[in-house]
Amino acid sequence: MYSTAQQNQLIKDAKAFIQHSTSVDSLTAINILKEIINFADWTYYVNDNPIFADAEYDALFKLLKDTEQKYPEWITIDSPTQRIAKGLTEDFKTVSHLVPMLSLENSYDAADLQDWDRKCKELSGLPTIEYCVEPKYDGAGISLIYEKDILERGSTRGDIVQGDDITTNTKQIRSIPLGAKLSRFNIQQIEIRGEVMLTKKAFRQYNEKLIAENLSPLANPRNAASGSLRIKNASEVAKRGLDAFLYHISNISIDPQKPFPTEFQTHFGSLKALESLGFKTPLSTIRVHATIEEVIQTCMEYEANRDQMPYEIDGMVIKVNDIALQDVLGQTSHHPRWAIAYKFKARQGSSKLLQIEYQVGRTGSVTPVAKIEPVYIDGVTISSISLFNEEVIREKNLKIGDTILVERAGDVIPYIVKSFPELRTGAENEIVFPTKCPVCGEGLYKPESEAVWRCTHINCEAQRIERIIHFASKDAMDIRGLGDALVRKLYEKKWIHGIADIYKLPFEQLKGMEGWGEKSMTNLKEAIEKSKTQPLHRILFGLGIRYVGETTAKALARSIAHINDLFSTSIDALKNIEDVGEKVAVSIQEFFSHQDTKLLLEQLQDAGVCLQNTQKNEVVAGALLGKTFFIYRYFTNEAKRCRSNGRTKRRKITQWRQ
Ligand code: IVH
Repeated sequence: MYSTAQQNQLIKDAKAFIQHSTSVDSLTAINILKEIINFADWTYYVNDNPIFADAEYDALFKLLKDTEQKYPEWITIDSPTQRIAKGLTEDFKTVSHLVPMLSLENSYDAADLQDWDRKCKELSGLPTIEYCVEPKYDGAGISLIYEKDILERGSTRGDIVQGDDITTNTKQIRSIPLGAKLSRFNIQQIEIRGEVMLTKKAFRQYNEKLIAENLSPLANPRNAASGSLRIKNASEVAKRGLDAFLYHISNISIDPQKPFPTEFQTHFGSLKALESLGFKTPLSTIRVHATIEEVIQTCMEYEANRDQMPYEIDGMVIKVNDIALQDVLGQTSHHPRWAIAYKFKARQGSSKLLQIEYQVGRTGSVTPVAKIEPVYIDGVTISSISLFNEEVIREKNLKIGDTILVERAGDVIPYIVKSFPELRTGAENEIVFPTKCPVCGEGLYKPESEAVWRCTHINCEAQRIERIIHFASKDAMDIRGLGDALVRKLYEKKWIHGIADIYKLPFEQLKGMEGWGEKSMTNLKEAIEKSKTQPLHRILFGLGIRYVGETTAKALARSIAHINDLFSTSIDALKNIEDVGEKVAVSIQEFFSHQDTKLLLEQLQDAGVCLQNTQKNEVVAGALLGKTFFIYRYFTNEAKRCRSNGRTKRRKITQWRQ
């Protein structure tokens, strides 16, 4: 895409803008500035190798925005500033695809692929055919039209012939270029097909956020991607961290005065050309083979390693490489004859919904859990599936006794895809959500904006146990050996009532416990001892403050010197901390206003748990209090993740301690 010389020049230009430019006053300069920002986006979102620090990017972007404000006549539709969405989309317009968005024929084994290869050879009369094999992305199909080097339209697949115009949402996907020098290949207009995806990591992070906000998590990355494309608030789309792979050119118009570009005569060549223009394609994963046996081998290899992919793939797509030959083979009304999907073994199975159990979490959330007839899917037996909340039961139209379809996709926890109401016999029973806590009997409460019913009894036994389990868990204090089962056992024996009791365990009495040897005791003692010096953010996360997930806990820890600081931090000061909004700030303050919290922290301190921030602090000097700063952040993996949620923020220093 960019030669080394070009990259060096752009970096040099960028540094000059950052160091010397307070404003830009020529058309040439603003064009260079746009090119630099496009380059920065490409390094980050397409090439996955960012070059600029957040603060540098922010400074360049601001310079461009300020310049465009001063000279609105210089704003172009492909300017990086034009990704920013304003307002809500009323309704998605229906638009016609230039070419129908066909689906692919499926194959399931080597014999199917050999059959298809035979047919291709028969139809074309050729003895050998070159095939490309690439991943079949499990996301949402998208169609893009570029005209005169500018992204004109993005649309969903819809009913194959027509889809929804989602141009504004498409522009929120940073790996999709707003403009590309297609004219370099004499292309006047092009329709490109691809798949919008969420990496497994982005999906996990997004779900963690939803759970922290008491919202229902999304079932799988595929649903998350297709749902995201139809969100009416485009700025919300931007926050999802969507990605797009472009894998097929469905229509191409070349300048009639100029020759057809040879690069676009093969599928492989087309993808290579698209990559060179800044598009993200399957190129790095593609394999070109001369025989169907090699194709089959590649499909098997990818199937065996599918879990290693950063995103979900549900099969492979095999395409005839020569575009002219593709035209000879043609298509049916449903699918092209020149391509076929090889579907990986299903990760689905059918089962029966036997009953619903209700689990009470550490924040009192009452989660319905479906107990199902055990079903064996891809090496794992599943007998229990979380349904998250009452709405999911309604959405999936579930009844006790229903036949259900269960899916287990990669890292994603198993979920119920659907029920089959048509198979009901009349013996099924309605699911009645409880009105009282199944553990302590207290009434349940659900704020209107939330999906989760909650037990309001702070000392509910289930909550107490879950709080201890959470505190000891791997991502919190990481007390190895003190897992779910042991905590329950210790609680049952009345040796542990709350978090602080972890540090007062009567090890002498524990000795007599069934299945409990000297070795496990020593290990547990050591793990508990080790936890006393865990960094502050782990304690903050372990305390289970509502809405405070790992990322917020880290930001919170960075901004204080001792946990006791939080007893006196105002809501406004809390809101100045990265990731902390009104709701989170109120929750933190509420937590630290409880007498129980004070008592717990005193007990932890007495037990020798370090409550101080022992990690290097970002706080600079007392004299800087109240001033606003650019905090410079370098590219750690975490910074990379943060970046997709918004660029570096200005921070006001609100507290200072030596
Ligand atoms: S090529 C003319 N390549 O799978 C057909 N499709 O049922 C052009 N898909 O609708 C499609 N990965 O949404 C193609 N590498 C890939 C793909 C892919 C996923 C989707 C696409 C299509 C569906 C097939």
